[in-house]
Amino acid sequence: MTPVAPTVEALRRAVGNWRREGARIALVPTMGALHEGHLSLVEIARRQAERVVVSIFVNPTQFGPNEDFAKYPRTLDDDRRRLGTLADLVFAPSVEEMYPAGFATTVSLEGPATAGLEDAFRPTHFAGVATVVSKLFIQTTPDFAVFGEKDYQQLKVVTRMTRDLDLPVTIVPGETVREADGLAMSSRNRYLSAEARAKAPAIHATLSTCAARLRTGEAPATVLPDGRRRLTDAGFTIDYLEARNAETLAPVESVQAEPVRLLVAARLDGTRLIDNLAV
Ligand code: PAJ
Repeated sequence: MTPVAPTVEALRRAVGNWRREGARIALVPTMGALHEGHLSLVEIARRQAERVVVSIFVNPTQFGPNEDFAKYPRTLDDDRRRLGTLADLVFAPSVEEMYPAGFATTVSLEGPATAGLEDAFRPTHFAGVATVVSKLFIQTTPDFAVFGEKDYQQLKVVTRMTRDLDLPVTIVPGETVREADGLAMSSRNRYLSAEARAKAPAIHATLSTCAARLRTGEAPATVLPDGRRRLTDAGFTIDYLEARNAETLAPVESVQAEPVRLLVAARLDGTRLIDNLAV
């Protein structure tokens, strides 16, 4: 089992000792319920730095009032067993440790955090993410921090914030790890009924088909409605399926002249799934 630091003080003591040994430090922020997608980020962190910290904290400030904060899986001992010696330390603070009484500071962004997509459906989400990630960076002082492309808009938000605040951290992206049938791994997949789980691969299949059609020069105005129809017919309620500039997340002007990313959020049986794919 990976050792655990439950407080900022314990985290800083461990990091201070490693610094004195001249070690570089990589951080992998997570909310736990670790799966192979998370572990792939830890492996990337291992290649960057001598010491790896995985944070496990179900961050209340990034959940909306009607979201799944209370029922989000909390499996700290299993997570520590899965990590084994792949990580040097798990930082698992309590809510009180992260947000002491009277907590009053928020980090919020314009740009990628306000480009619509997730922000249109979860209006307080990215301020919660930016605030907790800022705290984790200040607490851990990592040289590197690894974030998954699975949460593509989050990756852009964190990259923007790090640059804007001159945080001395290099953000390293990790590719999305998928199940054999294409479903992106997610801690929320465990909410899916067997019936919903059988339908869920339609998300990645739809993104793949849309991307292939866009690559051949078909217009987004025909390809995207077809993709939306396919998901709706398969039983999904779509929040969005959009093509965006892969760097800025601005609406796409020309699929040929700029890097394009397809992004989707859709609900199945009360579970909200998100995914994205490069065109
Ligand atoms: P969580 O959903 O636990 O994800 C932690 C990290 O794992 C994120 O960087 C996410 O993009 C990445 N990840 C999730 N599924 C993945 C997959 N299938 N393949 C590759 N990477 C994957 O994202 C969060 O937690 C939180 O918002 C956090 C950044 C920890 C702030 O609270």
